Amino acid sequence: MTGMLPLTARQSWKALQAHQEKIRELHLRTLFVDDATRGERMSAEAVGIYLDYSKNRVTDETLALLCRLAEESGLRERVDAMFRGEKINLTENRAALHVALRAPRGTSILVDGTDVVPEVHAVLGAMADFANRVRGGAWKGHTGQPIRNVVNIGIGGSDLGPVMAYEALKHYSDRAMTFRFVSNVDGTDLVEATRDLDPAETLFIASSKTFTTLETMTNAESARQWLLAGLGGDVKAVAKHFVAVSTNARKVSEFGIDTANMFGFWDWVGGRYSMDSAIGLSTMVAVGPENFRALLDGFHQMDEHFRTSPFERNLPVLLGLLTVWYTDFFGAETVAVLPYEQYLKRFPAYLQQLTMESNGKHVTREGVEVGYPTGPIYWGEPGTNGQHSFYQLIHQGTRLIPCDFIGFGYALNPLGRHHDMLLANVFAQTEALAFGKTREQVRAEGTPDRLVPHRVFEGNRPSNTILADRLTPATLGKLVALYEHSVFTQGAIWNVDSFDQWGVELGKALAQRIIPELESEKEPTLGHDSSTNNMIRRYRKLRNRR
Ligand code: F6P
Repeated sequence: MTGMLPLTARQSWKALQAHQEKIRELHLRTLFVDDATRGERMSAEAVGIYLDYSKNRVTDETLALLCRLAEESGLRERVDAMFRGEKINLTENRAALHVALRAPRGTSILVDGTDVVPEVHAVLGAMADFANRVRGGAWKGHTGQPIRNVVNIGIGGSDLGPVMAYEALKHYSDRAMTFRFVSNVDGTDLVEATRDLDPAETLFIASSKTFTTLETMTNAESARQWLLAGLGGDVKAVAKHFVAVSTNARKVSEFGIDTANMFGFWDWVGGRYSMDSAIGLSTMVAVGPENFRALLDGFHQMDEHFRTSPFERNLPVLLGLLTVWYTDFFGAETVAVLPYEQYLKRFPAYLQQLTMESNGKHVTREGVEVGYPTGPIYWGEPGTNGQHSFYQLIHQGTRLIPCDFIGFGYALNPLGRHHDMLLANVFAQTEALAFGKTREQVRAEGTPDRLVPHRVFEGNRPSNTILADRLTPATLGKLVALYEHSVFTQGAIWNVDSFDQWGVELGKALAQRIIPELESEKEPTLGHDSSTNNMIRRYRKLRNRR
C-alpha cells in the first residue's frame, strides 16, 4: 500500500462522509417517487445472478463515490494480485488462490514459479475416481460390504463448507447413501452421528488442512475406536474405512491413514475458502463428479465476472461496497442473509466463517490500528422462518440491519402454491422494509390512537435482493464466489489481511493448558485469574461426583 493515503484521508472517503450527512434522512419512498425507473435501473445481472440494489439508501452519487473509493483503495490492483498468485496473505506469507481451485484445465496460474492448475486437476481426477468407486460400490469396506454411509470429520472451513454444500445440493445427491458431519469436540456430535450406522458400511473422511486441530483429531481417534470396536479390532480395517483430506501428509500417516488414500491441497487455500478443494470430497461423493465440476464452473464464472467487470456493474464489488457504506457511514453492525430456499439453510452459518474470520480485524495490513469499523456481524436464517422470529427487530427495532434476500425462480420441489407464496414473501418483506407504513396510513385504517405508534413502520430499511433461476450446483458456486469476492472487496477497502485468522489462536492455546488441569488426578496448582480458577475447581468437583 506504499504511496496510498490512509483510508480516512482519501478524497472519496471524505466526500462520502459529507454526502452521507446530506442524504442520511432521505427516505426510500422519496427516492422511488422521484425516479420511476429506479427499480430497474439500480440492478445488475451477470452469469445468471440478478442483483436488485435499488432498495438501498443510495443515490447515483453514492454509488459513484463508492466506486471511486474502490479505485482509490487500489481494489483493481488487489484483485489482479490475487489472481496472479501473489502472496497477498501478508502475515502468513502466502498466496490466497482459491480462484485456482476452479481454473479450467489448460489455464495457468503460477505460485513461486510453478503452475498450480495441473496439480489442481490431478487432485480433482483422483477425487472423481474415488467418488465413483464409492458411489458405484467398487470401494468395499473391511468385510467386503459396499459403503453406504459417509461421515466427514472436520471443523471450521473443513466442515462448514462441506455441510452447507451437502444440504444445498441434497436434491442432486445419491439418496441411497447417508451423509453425516461431525465437528464439535462435544462427544455427543460423534455419538449421535454414528449411533444408527453400521461400521462395516461406513467411511470416515478426516478433513483437516493442518491435521493437528484438536477437535478433528479427537473425533477421528474416537471414530477409529468406534470402527474397530464394531469390526472386531483388526487395525487393517482402518485403511478401508478412513481417508484423509489434508495438506499434511506426515500427520496423516502418523494417524494411521495410508497416504495413498489422502487427497491433498495447498497452503494457498485458506480453510474458509476450501469447499471447492479436496475438502469438498464428501460433496463430490454425495452429488457425483459431474455435479462437482458444474459447481466449480459456477465459481469460475463468478471469478471471471469479478476479475473483468467494471466496478459499477460488478456484483461482488457492489455488494462489498454497500456493506462498507452501511458499516462505516451508518454505523450498522450486522448484515442479515436471508435465503428463501430451504436447501440453503446452512448458508448463513457458512457465511459467518467466510465473512467474520476474514474481516474481523482491528489492524491494517501494515499492523496499524484501524480508525474505522471493519467486518460486520453476518447472521441469518432461511425465510420464511425468520419472519416469525427476528424480523420484528429488523422492521421496528432501533438498529439498522441491511439485509440480503436470496430467492429462486423455480422450486426444486414444486408443490401446489408453495413457491409463489415463498417468493411473495421475499418481495413483501423488501417492500415493507423499504417503504414501511406511515402514521397517516395507520390512522386511516381506523387504528385507535394509542396503538398508532406501535403500528407505524418507519421503513427506509435497506435490502438487496439476489435472484437466480434455480438452485443448481453451478448456481451454488456462483453464490459462494459472490460472497467470497464481496468479502475481498471489503477487506481491500479496509486494508486488512482477509486471509489470516490469528484471533482464533489464543483460546486454542489456553485450552491446551487447561485440559491437563481438568484431567490431572492430583489437585492442580492453578495460575489463572480468580474466575477461571474457581470454575476449574468447580468443574473438577462436579466431574468427580460421577
Ligand atoms: O480455528 C480456525 C481454523 O484455523 C479455521 O481457519 C479452519 O478452517 C479451521 O480452524 C480448521 O482447520 P483445519 O482444517 O486445519 O483442521
